[in-house]
Amino acid sequence: MPLSTLLVGGLMALQAHGVSGRDTPAILRRACPDYTSYASTPHGPYSGGPLNLPYQRPAEACRTFSSASVEKVIEDMTSRLVDKDLAQLFRNAYPNTLDTTIRWHQNGTTAASKRRSKRDSAQWTGAQTFIVTGDINAEWLRDSTNQLTNYQALASKDKSLYDLILGAINTQAEFVIQSPYCNAFQPPSASGIKPENNTQVDTVHPAYEKSFVYECKYELDSLAHFLLLGTQFHEHTGSTEFLSDRWFKALQTVLDVIDAQSQPTFNSDNQFVTNQYTFQRKTTSGTETLNLQGVGNPLNSGTGLIRSAFRPSDDATILGYFIPPNAMMSVQLQEIAKVIKVAGGHDDLVEELEQRGQNLANAVKEHGIVSHAKYGDVYAFEVDGYGSRILMDDANIPSLLSLPYLGFLDKSDKVYQNTRKMITEKAGNPYYLEGPAFHGIGGPHIGLENAWPMSLLMQAMTSDDDSEILESINLVRNSSLLGLVHESISVTNIKTYTRPWFSWANSVFAQTLLQVAEERPHLIFGDNAEPYTIS
Ligand SMILES: *[C@@H]1O[C@H](CO)[C@@H](O)[C@H](O)[C@H]1NC(C)=O
Ligand SMILES: *[C@@H]1O[C@H](CO)[C@@H](O)[C@H](O)[C@H]1NC(C)=O
Ligand SMILES: *[C@@H]1O[C@H](CO)[C@@H](O)[C@H](O)[C@H]1NC(C)=O
Repeated sequence: MPLSTLLVGGLMALQAHGVSGRDTPAILRRACPDYTSYASTPHGPYSGGPLNLPYQRPAEACRTFSSASVEKVIEDMTSRLVDKDLAQLFRNAYPNTLDTTIRWHQNGTTAASKRRSKRDSAQWTGAQTFIVTGDINAEWLRDSTNQLTNYQALASKDKSLYDLILGAINTQAEFVIQSPYCNAFQPPSASGIKPENNTQVDTVHPAYEKSFVYECKYELDSLAHFLLLGTQFHEHTGSTEFLSDRWFKALQTVLDVIDAQSQPTFNSDNQFVTNQYTFQRKTTSGTETLNLQGVGNPLNSGTGLIRSAFRPSDDATILGYFIPPNAMMSVQLQEIAKVIKVAGGHDDLVEELEQRGQNLANAVKEHGIVSHAKYGDVYAFEVDGYGSRILMDDANIPSLLSLPYLGFLDKSDKVYQNTRKMITEKAGNPYYLEGPAFHGIGGPHIGLENAWPMSLLMQAMTSDDDSEILESINLVRNSSLLGLVHESISVTNIKTYTRPWFSWANSVFAQTLLQVAEERPHLIFGDNAEPYTIS
């Protein structure tokens, strides 16, 4: 009998005994199929609905983390969902982060760490969690925050999820301290996992360590997502335990980057000053590198906006004052000020953060709102402070579509409504892509024939219209034929997609369904159904 057969047999035996992934011997874990290939082919049992969607969770022994409270939410939701295909998609998508992406976790209660104080200033102490994006063995700050969003509401009652998220905050803090301009990171050396070989040829300043960083694209939203992971954790648990010395050091690092990236291209004597961050890649794709020797296009002084070199799609910005992450950062600075205040932090710091957040929100409104001949006042996607603007939206979050979701404004806001109309039709948004099979907002990252399910989910989450919500969700369901939510779908053929294993998109799907379950249960649970809230 070949060894592989033996190991698969062993896995089945383990499953039969209900052994969870974490307790599985390493040799058996190595027998688990690679999830990218596993996710690319359908597995039973099938949903029994019109689309007969497959069951795509890995075998129990192969899951990277398990939680009884997450299993209970799956049971609660799938027993209520009327549509069997939506239920199957939720069953696969909601636990996807835990099932497949927790590559390394320590809960911080080892004998060694107990001896140290809670507010220890040493690196890599306490709980730690390394979460990969899916098909690439690296952690994106943005993705990992969003991958955990759906478990935050369970963390106050489930200690293992509490430790998991606290660990993720601690790990992100270490990443931010060492390489605040970078977007994606290698497994920490303490994990013993081999770094991924990123074969791109990049020239980046400030320099970074390739065994620590997977990719170093400076995206303002990565830093806002670091703050969001903490503010969400506090919102759901009331805990301020993550405010360690290391976390405050990471916060100071974020503020230093903000200050450096608020500098214009020319100083007050009109002399060119090279930005602290530059990035150049050997590539044939314009969105993968920066103009002007890696500096990017010129930005004017006096806007109060913060530059972002790249977008959350990892594509280069055209004009560096990219509005959505500035809006997001303005909210997060004010939110984190509240948490630090609750924890009894320094008044000066609390006031500084509030002030920075308010000033930035004002700058977004002053420079981000532009007049459009057809739609009236709208938010631009990017501006440069000289009057130039890019009018479009991209599926990745933060986007213009997501402004209410980010907490920046109310969805009834007039300028937002104008903007929403513009970006959700072809006449107003060059990246609104439609074809006979699929439609939605896409972006330059995959190209002009692919729309992204994530944009439809955001459309559902920011709508007050039952039919728009249902239509958006059903279109995503129809395009998720392998039982998981993909990155992008061809507008001409629903079976052509990118990324079989993209954990963030699955998280956004689950989040959308949970929001509908709470706010509009009749849409998915049937007439007169009671709302369902995670608790
Ligand atoms: C934390 O991890 C240690 C060592 O792996 C383990 O013994 C302990 O049970 C864990 N505690 C919790 C709450 O999961
Ligand atoms: C990484 O990949 C490049 C290109 O394929 C190769 O030349 C290099 O040896 C690899 N490095 C490691 C450490 O595997
Ligand atoms: C989804 O597919 C079904 C057929 O399976 C079709 O009736 C329905 O109109 C589609 N919904 C959307 C929103 O495309």
